[in-house]
Amino acid sequence: MKIEVPCTSANIGCGFDSLGIAFSLKATFEFTRQIGYSFEGCEECYQNEENLIVIAYKKTMEAMNKSPAGFHVIIDSPIPIARGLGSSAAMIAAGALAANAFEENKLSMQELLEICTSIEGHPDNVAPALMGGLTVSWMEDGKPCCVPYDVSERLKFCALIPDFMISTEKAREILPKTVPLEDAVFNLSRAAALTKILEEGNTEILRYLLKDKLHEPYRKKLIHEYDRIKDICEAKGCDGFFISGSGPTLMAIYHQENFIDQIQEEIKQCRHHWQIMPLTVEKVRGNINER
Ligand code: HSE
Repeated sequence: MKIEVPCTSANIGCGFDSLGIAFSLKATFEFTRQIGYSFEGCEECYQNEENLIVIAYKKTMEAMNKSPAGFHVIIDSPIPIARGLGSSAAMIAAGALAANAFEENKLSMQELLEICTSIEGHPDNVAPALMGGLTVSWMEDGKPCCVPYDVSERLKFCALIPDFMISTEKAREILPKTVPLEDAVFNLSRAAALTKILEEGNTEILRYLLKDKLHEPYRKKLIHEYDRIKDICEAKGCDGFFISGSGPTLMAIYHQENFIDQIQEEIKQCRHHWQIMPLTVEKVRGNINER
């Protein structure tokens, strides 16, 4: 059985731990049921029962009162690890979707979202990984809730993926435990407006809404050449710029046809290698209550 899961970008500037978008760069997982677990297509150090696919698979089977038994999985994932593009969320979603598919999709998307969030710790990557599109998610009495939105086709996205990694753990450690009220207001007003503007594709307003005061000011210090990449993209007229998830991948939104050609030469001259990857939004997979 084949499962495809998209890469995801969480936060989208002002929507820390809340907003996420699924993109067309997808990992493929081919599952066969067996006794015990075996893997192809991932490093040996991940070929054990600590693997996130196994953890999610077992937890989903247990939620259905089924014995997990095991699987063989062939992983083909172009999603770079520890770059802020939801590689962990993709593994978790794949394990949960596979277990559910083997058991005639007994669990709803909401139930899968609960299982996946309990493993990932926050819902903003796993929600779009499961459901596609743009999602807004939050926690209610310890359970994730999620509302899906569309993203206008007028908006084009480009990931700038560096040759260095940053773990989400490290990128969360540097965040303050409390923030000034005015910073919270700065973000919440923008996040509320951002969902509508992403649906409409209004690039004039978009540039004001992607700004953030809750995580980017702290995290940009971990990302070599952050200012340089941002300056290059802004000088060529991007409509918005943000850190993808907890970084270090940076994301530009633009609408001009020749934006990539225009940034290419200058990006090549940076000290680190930055892969320029245009991405399209992965359309909605399913409704939250769907089985
Ligand atoms: N919202 C999470 C964070 C996403 O920014 O830490 C991690 O990918």
